[in-house]
Amino acid sequence: KKILLVVGARPNFMKIAPLMHALQDNPHLEAILVHTGQHYDNQMSGRFFEELGIPAPHINLEVGSASHAQQTARIMMGFEQVCLDEKPDFVLVVGDVNSTAACTLVAAKLNIKSIHYEAGLRSRDRSMPEEINRLVTDAISDYFFTTSVDADDNLLKEGVSADQIFMVGNLMIDTLEANLSKAQSSTQIFPLLNKGEHINIADIAKAGYGVMTFHRPSNVDNKEILTQLVSIWGAISEKIPLVFPIHPRTYKNIQQFGLLDKINQYEHLLLIEPLGYLEFIHLVSNATFALTDSGGIQEETTHLNIPCLTVRPNTERPVTVWEGSNKLIQLNDIEQEINLILQGNGKKGTNPKYWDGKTAQRIVAILETI
Ligand code: UD1
Repeated sequence: KKILLVVGARPNFMKIAPLMHALQDNPHLEAILVHTGQHYDNQMSGRFFEELGIPAPHINLEVGSASHAQQTARIMMGFEQVCLDEKPDFVLVVGDVNSTAACTLVAAKLNIKSIHYEAGLRSRDRSMPEEINRLVTDAISDYFFTTSVDADDNLLKEGVSADQIFMVGNLMIDTLEANLSKAQSSTQIFPLLNKGEHINIADIAKAGYGVMTFHRPSNVDNKEILTQLVSIWGAISEKIPLVFPIHPRTYKNIQQFGLLDKINQYEHLLLIEPLGYLEFIHLVSNATFALTDSGGIQEETTHLNIPCLTVRPNTERPVTVWEGSNKLIQLNDIEQEINLILQGNGKKGTNPKYWDGKTAQRIVAILETI
């Protein structure tokens, strides 16, 4: 059987890596990797292939950045031709980015069976582009691989039949387990974006630091909200240093809204370039807490049992709150929640079922039978 596996954006790469490894040399399954080029910079894409040992994509559609409609359309046009040329038995997509929805739509129209890994997650917030991608993808997929039981419930309620759903666990945790000890020897000396100096994380690790990521359009595309966030980050950084590997979307907006000077006033608000996987996992695993609006970091901190504060009104990954170390909080609660953590009262949790490093194996066993 021939399977086209699709990746497009940064969070897809950690999910596809263990699958590509598990599929290598499989006598029954031929894996062809397609990169849509939704992310294209070395720091958002290329370096993850090197670090995680993902084979170079067989095909790169090189769609680049554009409006949602344009990007989705370009992916569809490119991927349709790939499907016509390759004639796969299955298309496998991961996550919730534009590439996920676009390629599933193409497969469905060509009557190619599609498989969605990380199916069934729902934030119930349709202002999030990812929620639209999840709904579209799951409405027309044929097989559903899920990371937690709440996702199974969501799919069942939406009318998916139980025999199409497979709770397989979390591929990102496969990648985390495989790389954690290697990550501990990755570099922790980074040039500071706003200060022309370097920071050595080892110097601040003893007294503790927080790691921070923000890139959701709802937090960083609005000038008022981003301005408010900068003030809050600044106030926190006066209590504990904040290390902030900054996403290109966020950095562009900070510059555009004229907030760089304000950021530079805070000595311990430490902006650095987006990190590679190993550097980032090293940074997170030694942090006192994470402050974020990311999806994946909620899961990684849950597995590492590090308090995570997620600044969003909802999450599509509620198991990280029910069982894990994640808390959903509002802008106005950030400082109070950080105080709790600094007093030693950060949230701790347990590891969800099948977040055990063996998810790729489970998936391949199922792929052999469907
Ligand atoms: C995308 C995903 C989001 C995911 C995030 C992780 C969708 C709808 N969004 O959002 O779910 O959490 O990736 O990063 O699929 N840019 C670069 N280099 C790159 C790619 C982008 O500089 O390699 C810049 C471009 O100016 C672009 C901006 O970053 O306009 C935002 O990128 P885009 O892919 O539109 O969305 P993300 O915010 O990255």
